[in-house]
Amino acid sequence: MAAPPTEAESRARPVLPSAARAAMEALNAEADGLHIWLRTQANAPAQRPWFHDGGLAAGGQVAQGRVGANQMKAAPHRWRWSEISPYLGRIAEIARNADVSPIEFADRQQFLLVNPGLGGRLQVASTIRCAVSIYNPGDVAPVHRHTPNASRTILSDNGGYTTIEGERCAASRGDLILTPNGTWHDHGNDGATPVVWADILDFPLLEFLDCSWIDEDFPGERQGNARAQKPLHGDGYSARLYGAGGMLPGFVSHARGIGHDTSPVFHYRGSQIRAALDALRDEAGDPYEGVTLRFVNPATGEAVFPTLDYSAQLMRSGEATRWKRETANAFYIVLDGEGTTEIAGRHFDWKTNDIVVVPNFLWRRHVNRGPGDALLYLCSDRPLFEKIGQYRAQGRTSDGEVVQLVA
Ligand SMILES: [Fe+2]
Repeated sequence: MAAPPTEAESRARPVLPSAARAAMEALNAEADGLHIWLRTQANAPAQRPWFHDGGLAAGGQVAQGRVGANQMKAAPHRWRWSEISPYLGRIAEIARNADVSPIEFADRQQFLLVNPGLGGRLQVASTIRCAVSIYNPGDVAPVHRHTPNASRTILSDNGGYTTIEGERCAASRGDLILTPNGTWHDHGNDGATPVVWADILDFPLLEFLDCSWIDEDFPGERQGNARAQKPLHGDGYSARLYGAGGMLPGFVSHARGIGHDTSPVFHYRGSQIRAALDALRDEAGDPYEGVTLRFVNPATGEAVFPTLDYSAQLMRSGEATRWKRETANAFYIVLDGEGTTEIAGRHFDWKTNDIVVVPNFLWRRHVNRGPGDALLYLCSDRPLFEKIGQYRAQGRTSDGEVVQLVA
């Protein structure tokens, strides 16, 4: 006996008489070699209607049968640092004793986060990839550029260096370093202790669009081991150019590299992010997000990448945000503090260095349960959804009423 139709199937169409359906299926068997499929099912959207309140736990639904065969849905998830970080030490140990360094045959020494809802794909959400990398003292990632936009959030005290379009950035914990698409960049660890950072990229989106390429043939002058670009600007160059809010230098191009619509600022220091948030701690903040600062392209006020938006979020002790949901995905790294993110009826406790993904369409709220501040770094693919005309956000008031934040 056939499975009863899903809610989406029942909504979408009347059920065909079984004889007609069987006849269509028989035709399909015949036509299979021609690489066509005769429709025997209705398309069932994977998300529920946005403007119908399905409750806090509502999620989407993957279609059944042939229509749903390749459909997957990201799950809310939290990666505990205490569970995943030991693998960094084991990677580093293998690298130290290797005949051929893993960085040579695998490009990087890292693990990638795998969303449990996405069938083993190397992505945390539909558009976002995250890897956690370790660099032993002396390790170098050679100079290259590529179409995915990328960032690294420094988790170790020693953050090594990244040189981007000639700007050498020496980093430490809490720093955010941007390598926009089309910028030449190389990394390394010239310190005495291992460097650990989280890379966030829009790689899955570029792969889906079949627009992912990498260029390793740097044309400029190199230094030292011949794999790193020679620095043209000292650390803090982009901050010196753009660090005075509301004032733009008139003597430089705001385009760096061959990408379009990307930020010319490459290095945000954790200490400055923290100080800027701290200066705003007595403000009311946003009821859905707390006290936030967005990292923006200073020349346009837009997101730093055409696809990804970054912000830092301070939640004071005891602070709980209201329920919010968006059509875009939200990906958090916990820089400090401890608390809980509730997502679609599930509770995910977190503390320093834990990582949480909130897939699109799901209700979320954060609670700072610790004695001190909580600091979250957020990466969202909101700019992409805005550009394709699909960004919406809803909130719930304190008495549970759904309000349109962005309709
Ligand atoms: Fe890269």
